[in-house]
Amino acid sequence: MLYIEHLNKWYGNHQAVKDLSLHIPKGDLFGFVGPNGAGKTTTLRIVCGLLKESSGQVVIDQMSRKKDPEKIKRCIGYVPDFFGVYDNFKVWEYMEFYGSLYGINATDCRKLTEDLLALVNLSEKRDEYVDSLSRGMKQRLCVARALLHDPALLVLDEPSSGLDPRARIEMKELLMNLRGMGKTIIISSHILSELSEMCTSIGIMNQGKLVAIGKIEDILHAGAVDDVVILEIRKDMERAVTIIKQMANVDLISVMENEIKIKYPGEDAELNRILIELMQQDVMLHGFHRQEGNLEQMFMQLTGSEEEAS
Ligand SMILES: Nc1ncnc2c1ncn2[C@@H]1O[C@H](COP(=O)(O)OP(=O)(O)O)[C@@H](O)[C@H]1O
Ligand SMILES: [Mg+2]
Repeated sequence: MLYIEHLNKWYGNHQAVKDLSLHIPKGDLFGFVGPNGAGKTTTLRIVCGLLKESSGQVVIDQMSRKKDPEKIKRCIGYVPDFFGVYDNFKVWEYMEFYGSLYGINATDCRKLTEDLLALVNLSEKRDEYVDSLSRGMKQRLCVARALLHDPALLVLDEPSSGLDPRARIEMKELLMNLRGMGKTIIISSHILSELSEMCTSIGIMNQGKLVAIGKIEDILHAGAVDDVVILEIRKDMERAVTIIKQMANVDLISVMENEIKIKYPGEDAELNRILIELMQQDVMLHGFHRQEGNLEQMFMQLTGSEEEAS
């Protein structure tokens, strides 16, 4: 659906996006995450055609901006990180105003406005002034506005920033709903945990570079965070510790009353060998489980080192 190919963006002599390439398949809910200043907004604005790239290109549904500028515009809906001020617009007027900009005729637009306001749960606010809405409602209105021309790709820049927890959940539900309707969605955030529950895959950006991309489990598994396994042992503790200490490639992290925490760098087969060794030496294992890779830890590892990233 969306291909970004060797994208670079310079602001004067500052490079905000560095050779960024990625592919987002149709129907994905893709999370674009990175600390402030990583280059997310710059990248999204280039995707939407609001900013010109220095080099590289964006291809959407086999259309490039150079060849099909109008068509490409039609297939993108953009929700910016900053919601403008619209004094004296009522909610329905706001929608119909944008509808007219897209060239939608008045009758269709009225119907569409009602449908979209229902979708974003704002039907009851249709006669209120936009400026009187809460931030969460304004964000949802902005999503409804971005859907007016029925774009295949929806791009949202930090739609949850500044929202209270309830409004965040409503936004998340709305996005998952839209994904269910077949939209391809890109959402950015500087908070990884906000995206991890809803996104099918994520890209982690730091200082203009894409430092990881894929499904969250795969990124975690790719070795960004070592595998930590907890062995539950009720008897034979000392013996187990001695055996583990003798194993190559296994680090003993901690020993508590009934559990041993170990770290091993290898494949799942490696874990099997550890377990077999223990059982062959008659250690009674009461259980074992893998410690879930810590998302925040991974994010810090990937975006932490300034030297590496520059
Ligand atoms: N219009 C601009 N002129 C100069 N530098 C800019 C401009 N917009 C953004 N930058 C710089 O580019 C980098 C990336 O910014 P941005 O894309 O806004 O990142 P993010 O959205 O991830 O916070 C930052 O260092 C920022 O200061
Ligand atoms: Mg930004």
